[in-house]
Amino acid sequence: MTLIKVILYRLNPWGMVPMSTSHTSKLLQNLWDRKQADMLDEPGRLLYRSNLLGSDKRITNYGGGNTSAKVTMADPLTGADTTVLWVKGSGGDVGTMKLDGFATLYQDKLNDLRNLYRGVEFEDEMVGYLPHCTFDLNPRASSIDTPLHAYVPKAHVDHMHPDAIIAIAAAKDGESLTNEIFGDDIGWLPWKRPGYELGLWLNKFCEENPAARGVVLGSHGLFTWADTAEECYAVTLDIINQSITWLDNKTSGKTAFGKAVHPVLSEEQRREIAQNLMPEIRGLISAEQYKVGHFDDSAPVLEYVCSEQMPALAALGTSCPDHFLRTKIRPLIVDFDPTSQDIASTVTSLPEALSQYRDEYKAYYDRCKHADSPAMRDPNPVVYLVPGVGMITFAKDKATARVSAEFYTNAINVMRESSAVSTYCGLPEQEAFDIEYWLLEEAKLERMPKPKSLAGRIALVTGGAGGIGSATAERLLSEGACVVLADIDNDLLSQTHQQLSDMYGKDVVRKVLMDVTHEHQVIEAFHFTGVEFGGVDILVSNAGIASSAAIEDTTLELWNMNMDILSTGYFLVSREAFRMLKRQSLGGSVVFIASKNALAASPGASAYCTAKAAEVHLARCLALEGAGEGIRVNVVNPDAVLQGSKIWTGEWLQQRADAYGKDAEGLQAHYLERSLLKRAVLPEDIAEATYFLVSDASAKSTGNILNVDAGNVQSFTR
Ligand SMILES: NC(=O)c1ccc[n+]([C@@H]2O[C@H](COP(=O)([O-])OP(=O)(O)OC[C@H]3O[C@@H](n4cnc5c(N)ncnc54)[C@H](O)[C@@H]3O)[C@@H](O)[C@H]2O)c1
Ligand SMILES: [Zn+2]
Repeated sequence: MTLIKVILYRLNPWGMVPMSTSHTSKLLQNLWDRKQADMLDEPGRLLYRSNLLGSDKRITNYGGGNTSAKVTMADPLTGADTTVLWVKGSGGDVGTMKLDGFATLYQDKLNDLRNLYRGVEFEDEMVGYLPHCTFDLNPRASSIDTPLHAYVPKAHVDHMHPDAIIAIAAAKDGESLTNEIFGDDIGWLPWKRPGYELGLWLNKFCEENPAARGVVLGSHGLFTWADTAEECYAVTLDIINQSITWLDNKTSGKTAFGKAVHPVLSEEQRREIAQNLMPEIRGLISAEQYKVGHFDDSAPVLEYVCSEQMPALAALGTSCPDHFLRTKIRPLIVDFDPTSQDIASTVTSLPEALSQYRDEYKAYYDRCKHADSPAMRDPNPVVYLVPGVGMITFAKDKATARVSAEFYTNAINVMRESSAVSTYCGLPEQEAFDIEYWLLEEAKLERMPKPKSLAGRIALVTGGAGGIGSATAERLLSEGACVVLADIDNDLLSQTHQQLSDMYGKDVVRKVLMDVTHEHQVIEAFHFTGVEFGGVDILVSNAGIASSAAIEDTTLELWNMNMDILSTGYFLVSREAFRMLKRQSLGGSVVFIASKNALAASPGASAYCTAKAAEVHLARCLALEGAGEGIRVNVVNPDAVLQGSKIWTGEWLQQRADAYGKDAEGLQAHYLERSLLKRAVLPEDIAEATYFLVSDASAKSTGNILNVDAGNVQSFTR
């Protein structure tokens, strides 16, 4: 998408502009730095090429494609020279992979495998032989595509999934278009599921066409090859650029996807509708497994969802196997009319629409299954297209939901170009099924590590920038939850957000500036959580202050401040949490970080103690109200968490010290001494207790109080 086109989208509410008129800005630039590359050895140069190719999503999609080099190396046992195939292994992404992402195999052993091949119906068993060809005990598992690289008789091979090539590969007359664009330079092989047989097809093609520089694989992608790493990179770019130029010339002046039939709503309206729909959808599809959502309203997506051809194209499904493995055979088109914007009737239509989708998915499974097919997987859609609004995706975690949206965007690009120059074809249903339920794919899924205890859960932590709040956010993240940090301290919020993103990845942490006393901001923060992650399961109400004053010195202002933040603030955030939790109908867990002072009075802090006591009673009321819906509400009572707490850097420290007639250091010792266990309480201790209360380990506890205070007889609950 060029800048000019993006600007035009803003100006034209119907979102339709003629397809690009200039291709020069779209062309891939050759970024090969000879000086840098020449300093590397051959595997290093392969890695350099792979990272260059994979860093541009126009060249290949996330996790898609692979690269290889046949390198002469000394055999570790005999010292004799031998040819080793370095080929991207299973998993990872070419753009970000490291050298350990390559599998290494003896080329002559791979050649010998031909003697064991019993024919196409047995091709899957060849995968079992690949580990026997491993060179130098490399533990990286070989990918299904290994034979495709092994049997191309060239030193360097790239396999990429460029949108501009798949647009040709998925066109009804892809073979003749390939010939028209590339002549004898690039051949054509019809769709064939990647595996040993396709490796032999490639070999045969190369033997018969020694001058060819590559081949387009029908409904799939591109193979290119050359004698050196630099040349291979250049060939790959050159072929993709030829296709981009050709497509641009052919589509210039044409309107994409027919004409626009829906208006593009404003960004604010789009997010408002998304936050309304996402928790509803999430509730309807998370019965078996919690799902996390992603919202995408980029220009290509809006153009597509507002277009005349969208319903017909969406029904055809995606083409490249990578695309539909991530997006399911088809998206669900949400029944929403952006002109009337009747969101209530859309919400009412969702249960039926989803149930119909699931029935159709089951029918597809039953039509296509084989005797030994794995059991049917989750029949819910991954991709939801909302006219005028954008695309929502749901998956088991945030990164998968985001990547699914990226893949469907690739598919949109393919459909746009392909249907402008020809007729776009999805992969035949049986072929799609055979990839989706491939036993080798199933084995890959089974090798995946067990999900963490909070995988798919979404948490909002108030006071998330503070000592206990950030420790709690980290604990929840470490168990696989997505977390929204809400706080009033902008600087500290950004700092905490950065730290946690560095540790757990950008996908799973968000921040929102929110004052718990401000009703509108609280409502907005939950809407934000709805759009960013799709809903909420966990509220940790923790934002707080502390104040100290004798009753006769307690101003009304001080009293109200404590009540506002600690009591009213806890009410406001729980009310919004309850509203969202009830819309999802998935239960939920609320934890209040109250205080030892909620149960046991402290001298000279009546406003704080009373407000904290109100929190405990509010929690009990809410436990009662939430139980019928599976919403649990519990309390953690900390005491004297001096480390990491901002409260203990302010006046409170001095005031408490004065109240007990101590200096600052003496106060810490006083608390330690006062505790039954004689131990300091840390933010991590509060985080651990909170984690317990939000996790399924405490599934049968509600209305409870968990003291984390190193033992304090006054606050024993009774
Ligand atoms: N630290 C302790 O010894 C201790 C003891 C008992 C209870 N608590 C309670 O634990 C909770 C967390 O305290 P902490 O020790 O981590 O303190 P902290 O000051 O480090 O963290 C509190 C966070 O809440 C935020 N906050 C304050 N007012 C807010 C508002 N109106 N809206 C949104 N955010 C707001 C602050 O900016 C801060 O980041 C508080 O409720 C506190 O009363 C703490
Ligand atoms: Zn591929």
